[in-house]
Amino acid sequence: MNKKLRKAVIAGNWKMNKTPAEAKELMDGIKPLVKDADCDVVVCVPYVDLCTVLEAAKGTKIGVGAENCHWENSGAFTGEVSAPMLTSMGVQYVIIGHSERRTYFGETDATVNKRIRAALNAGLNVILCVGESLEQREQGITAELVAMQTKIALGGVTKDELKKVIIAYEPIWAIGTGKTATAEQANEVCAAIRSVIEGLYGKDAADAFTVQYGGSMNAKNAAELLAQPDVDGGLIGGASLKPADFAEIVKAASK
Ligand code: PGA
Repeated sequence: MNKKLRKAVIAGNWKMNKTPAEAKELMDGIKPLVKDADCDVVVCVPYVDLCTVLEAAKGTKIGVGAENCHWENSGAFTGEVSAPMLTSMGVQYVIIGHSERRTYFGETDATVNKRIRAALNAGLNVILCVGESLEQREQGITAELVAMQTKIALGGVTKDELKKVIIAYEPIWAIGTGKTATAEQANEVCAAIRSVIEGLYGKDAADAFTVQYGGSMNAKNAAELLAQPDVDGGLIGGASLKPADFAEIVKAASK
C-alpha cells in the first residue's frame, strides 16, 4: 500500500450468505472490532440484507455495498435490481464483474461495462473485479487478459468518474480455494492494472487509483499482501464472514 498516494480499502463480499437476522448478528460482531480502522471498510451484502446492514452501519464509518446491479434504471427485467434503486436506499458501493457472475451467470466484459456506467450514473462507487483462470495464467496471458478486461470495463468512463472506481484483482484460481497468490504475484498484476490506468487516464489518476487483491486473503496472509506497494486493499470473501478475521485484515490495512 502507498497510503500517501491513495486510499486503502478493505471490502467484504458476503456472496450468497446470511439471512437478515444473521446479517445483523454479523454486523454486531464486526462493528466494535473495526471502529478504529485507518482505512476504508466496506461490506457488500445480498440485496435482502441491505436494509438491515444499512441500519446497522448507521453512525459507523462502514460503507455498504451490493454485489451487482442491472444496467437499466427500471423496466421489464424480472429478478433484477437497478443502480438508482440501490442509491435510493443509501447504498454507496456495488461490486461489478465478479468472476462468479462471469462464470455462472453469463457476465461478459460488455455487460460489465454497461453495469459500471449505470452504477456511476447513479452515483455508486464501483468495485470492478478482474482476474485470470489457472489455465490463462499457465498460458502466460494474465497481464494481457486483465488489461483487456479493464479497458473494456472502463469504456466511456471519464477521468472524473474514475475517482469512484476501484479494481479488485482476483485470480479465479485463488477465490474460495485457500490458494492465495504470492505477494509478488499479487503485486505484479496490481501494478500491471495501474499501468493500464496510467495509459488510459494519466499518471496522476493511476497514482491515486486503488487496486485491491482478492482471493483467499485472510487474517494470516493479509499483512504480507498489503505490504506490497501496489496492493491497496482487499476484497474478502470467506474471511469477511468471521468478525475477528475480517478485523485482523482491517488492522493490517490500517498500519
Ligand atoms: P475468498 O473470495 O476471499 O473467499 O477467496 C474473494 C472474492 O470472491 O471476492
